[in-house]
Amino acid sequence: MKRLMACVILVVVLTFLGATAAFGVIRHSEETLACLDCHRQNPGLVSQWEDSAHWNAGVGCFECHMADKSDSDAMNHYGFTVAIIVSPGDCGECHPRETAEQEASHHAKAGDILNSNDGILGQTIGGEPAVAVGCRQCHGSIVKVNDNGTLDTDTWPNTGIGRVNPDGSKGTCSACHTRHRFSKEQARRPETCGKCHLGPDHPQKEVYEESKHGILYRAFESELNMDRPKWVAGEDYYDAPTCATCHMSASRKLPTTHDVGTRLSWNLRAPISEHMDHWQKKRQDMQEICSACHGRPFIEGFYKQLDSFVELYNEKFIRPAKEIRERLIEEGVISKDNFDDKIDWIYWELWHHEGRRARHGAAMSGPDYAWWHGIYEMAKHFYTELLPEAERVCADAGKPQIYEEIVSTYIDGRKEHEWYTKGFSPERLEEIKRYYKDRYQQEVN
Ligand code: HEC
Ligand code: HEC
Ligand code: HEC
Ligand code: HEC
Ligand code: HEC
Ligand code: HEC
Ligand code: HEC
Ligand code: HEC
Repeated sequence: MKRLMACVILVVVLTFLGATAAFGVIRHSEETLACLDCHRQNPGLVSQWEDSAHWNAGVGCFECHMADKSDSDAMNHYGFTVAIIVSPGDCGECHPRETAEQEASHHAKAGDILNSNDGILGQTIGGEPAVAVGCRQCHGSIVKVNDNGTLDTDTWPNTGIGRVNPDGSKGTCSACHTRHRFSKEQARRPETCGKCHLGPDHPQKEVYEESKHGILYRAFESELNMDRPKWVAGEDYYDAPTCATCHMSASRKLPTTHDVGTRLSWNLRAPISEHMDHWQKKRQDMQEICSACHGRPFIEGFYKQLDSFVELYNEKFIRPAKEIRERLIEEGVISKDNFDDKIDWIYWELWHHEGRRARHGAAMSGPDYAWWHGIYEMAKHFYTELLPEAERVCADAGKPQIYEEIVSTYIDGRKEHEWYTKGFSPERLEEIKRYYKDRYQQEVN
């Protein structure tokens, strides 16, 4: 009992000392104190900030939101000149390295999507309101300012990753460091990236969840020390990597980076996957991360499997599919426009959905995405939709010989596709029958 009392007293004294130290040292500017006078009406917002590293460092409302009268988004706000948007340009005054890296990354370019095929799909085939609450919430809007400095509600609220800000800077730091905590602990969690990196066309979050890494993350989440200032795999934690570990955080040899592309050797989202510039160096850097927890031969084995898989995707399925569609366009069998022929949609989903899922599954150890949601779907649609549809449109256009040429170029004489026109050999069929008989005591046809 005595010991318990002593303990309680110690805790009370320490808390008191801690609090006075905190209130004594941290001074906030006059302006920020004025903001707080009114903005206590948003107590959640103020508490988030009070729990942040910024509060601790004396960085307040005014230090972030202040603006020059000449800024296009400056507004006169109860005697203060402030802006709603705190852009990478603003954060960059205190965090220049992170900001320069972020601005050099693909993330910063993600708002420029208007003229892509996805853009046509969103704008024309979907519709503008769907683009505002869909595409742009991930990719970023081009923020427009009203005459009084408030923001145009067609373009705001928005924290898309490549937002184009009124000051011309690109990106949104709060896409990952959610306001007003701006926490790096939160940014290290896979859920942060999962706002955007999920779904039928880039299921990195789902792939991660089914991977051993994701399983270990859930099992040992509380032991990962994600709140530490320094966070290096193998030194500060060892159970599991998160998205940040592999793509952003420091390793024993590498510093943190805000350019998420610096450790990627492949482009796994384009129709045909190609190596990035300086890909060997980028791959080496990623392998350095793995080496905290895996041996060299294991890591090399992993990359060998990935490279063979990308080659299969490229050469067996997507290059032929692409060339077949191009041939049909050249011959005038289908139109040049996108998405007005059934085959456009089949081809689109082959690479943009099924083929990406497959490649992302292979790159991040999600076997169900590599195969059942990936190559399985591709194979099924290549053989049972793309080819039959090509045959149909050629026949309809009175040019059946075009389809015959396609078959002779892409199918016959290619070992990997031979089964489609020639069937399996009687020996192979016999083997399959025997297998089912042994395993399930059943006959199959
Ligand atoms: C006299 C009271 C008052 C003062 C002082 C004040 N604000 Fe506000 N502020 C408001 C009110 C009211 C709103 C509207 C929000 C609401 O209705 O909940 C607002 C809104 C805002 C917005 C959002 C605007 C929008 O359109 O979404 C920002 C950003 C903001 N204030 C920042 C600041 C900063 C930074 C300071 C200090 C430099 C400050 N405010 C000082 C009362 C005040
Ligand atoms: C570290 C910089 C930073 C600090 C400190 C900061 N803000 Fe913000 N604030 C932001 C960012 C970033 C946004 C979101 C706009 C954007 O994405 O650019 C924002 C948005 C807002 C908004 C509009 C959005 C909403 O949810 O209504 C208000 C109001 C606001 N801040 C008030 C405050 C107040 C009050 C304080 C002080 C208690 C404060 N901010 C401190 C960076 C900051
Ligand atoms: C006036 C200078 C200033 C501005 C403006 C500023 N910061 Fe900071 N920031 C600091 C200081 C000081 C720290 C605490 C020391 C450190 O960790 O570097 C900090 C810490 C951080 C951290 C680390 C938090 C943690 O969990 O340890 C993040 C993330 C961050 N800032 C993001 C931002 C973002 C995003 C913006 C813009 C919306 C921003 N900062 C604007 C000065 C600033
Ligand atoms: C849930 C968030 C989300 C939505 C909604 C979304 N995207 Fe994306 N988009 C992404 C992510 C994440 C990537 C990167 C995928 C990767 O690297 O594997 C991406 C990739 C792209 C790319 C390829 C960029 C490049 O440089 O290769 C384009 C173009 C694109 N999206 C346009 C659109 C359009 C247009 C819409 C709406 C019709 C849309 N996206 C909807 C998250 C989203
Ligand atoms: C794609 C998500 C993402 C975006 C966008 C992002 N950050 Fe970070 N940031 C992180 C992660 C993850 C960490 C933690 C790295 C680690 O493990 O130490 C971090 C760490 C930081 C830190 C702590 C010091 C450091 O470098 O580790 C600062 C400061 C910071 N970010 C500022 C910014 C600023 C400023 C922006 C906008 C220009 C920004 N961040 C945009 C994910 C992001
Ligand atoms: C708000 C949405 C959003 C968030 C949050 C987000 N991303 Fe992205 N990310 C994108 C989009 C969109 C792209 C495609 C950009 C492009 O090429 O146009 C992308 C691209 C990437 C790329 C490919 C970069 C390259 O150079 O090819 C990587 C890797 C990546 N993100 C990792 C991450 C990680 C890790 C996190 C979390 C720490 C994260 N992202 C958070 C939207 C987001
Ligand atoms: C164990 C490390 C690891 C983890 C954890 C991890 N990734 Fe990856 N990621 C990789 C590797 C390896 C590649 C392929 C690298 C290459 O091209 O050489 C990759 C590729 C990517 C790409 C590029 C895809 C493209 O279209 O080109 C994106 C985007 C991405 N990861 C996002 C994420 C997100 C989001 C998470 C968390 C949900 C995550 N990663 C978790 C290792 C990891
Ligand atoms: C923080 C430690 C850590 C890091 C960093 C890490 N891994 Fe792992 N990884 C593990 C652990 C633990 C396992 C589980 C081993 C098992 O199957 O028992 C694992 C499993 C794997 C598996 C086996 C998947 C399966 O389903 O059997 C592969 C492949 C893999 N990691 C690749 C990588 C690659 C590639 C990188 C770097 C890009 C990497 N890992 C980074 C800890 C890590």
